[in-house]
Amino acid sequence: MVTFIGAGPGDPELITVKGQKRLADADVVIYAGSLVNPEILTWCRPEAVIHNSASLSLEQVIALIGQAVAEGKKVARVHTGDPSIYGAIREQMDVLDELGIAYEVIPGVSSFLASAAAVQKEFTLPGVSQTVIITRLAGRTPVPERESLRSLAQHQASLCIFLSTAMIGEVVAELRDGGYSEDTPVAVVYKASWPEQKIVQGTLADIADKVQAAKLSRTAMIMVGRFLEGPYERSLLYDPTFSHGYRQAVEEKKS
Ligand SMILES: C[S@@+](CC[C@H](N)C(=O)[O-])C[C@H]1O[C@@H](n2cnc3c(N)ncnc32)[C@H](O)[C@@H]1O
Repeated sequence: MVTFIGAGPGDPELITVKGQKRLADADVVIYAGSLVNPEILTWCRPEAVIHNSASLSLEQVIALIGQAVAEGKKVARVHTGDPSIYGAIREQMDVLDELGIAYEVIPGVSSFLASAAAVQKEFTLPGVSQTVIITRLAGRTPVPERESLRSLAQHQASLCIFLSTAMIGEVVAELRDGGYSEDTPVAVVYKASWPEQKIVQGTLADIADKVQAAKLSRTAMIMVGRFLEGPYERSLLYDPTFSHGYRQAVEEKKS
């Protein structure tokens, strides 16, 4: 059996209980060493065989999995955050399907969620935005033109930009061209939930300089939007004048 596990953003305690159990039970562990905190491996059995996939190709990873499965071993394939986001998990699952190898996927806490927790904000504030856009700037991996930051910017939704901190100047230029004003709040979280976590906060006008001064280029999340600062409306869910399936309104709403 093969289990894909989302290891979470860094703090070893942010793996799910189910993910930790599968990891503790695995005979062979293949982890994405460029981003997964190696401390997560303390959950493994001492006799588990551990491979770092950072220097391996897809073919080499599949060969390791195939061999272990043929020997009747349990394999844990460990990805950072949640494997469904920039995780290159689909191509592995498709090959395993072709080979007739069964697998399961255990989700993880993605770094965009750990970044919101680090700055103690909520992405979906009433009256501000009810939409979160997860995206990245094109790098060596292209992004379809219809999903350019400039075109996504027109929605003024809460934005989480992965894999782009080294290009913060371009990110800012695209957001400006897309219509974000200079005073739009921006927060950049480096290594959310790791002991070395750093938070840089500013606006579209000054965030590029601040990020460069802090020398942040890798493993950081750029969050953009008025959810980071400014007014919002109260939620209806907890509004005493609003009835719903679990609660009757206790007072009339004053108009
Ligand atoms: C290949 S993607 C993997 C994303 C991962 N699957 C997830 O759900 O978080 C790597 C990018 O995720 C972001 N990232 C990963 N871990 C992070 C963390 N602890 N804090 C901030 N950003 C992180 C960075 O933008 C980094 O460049």
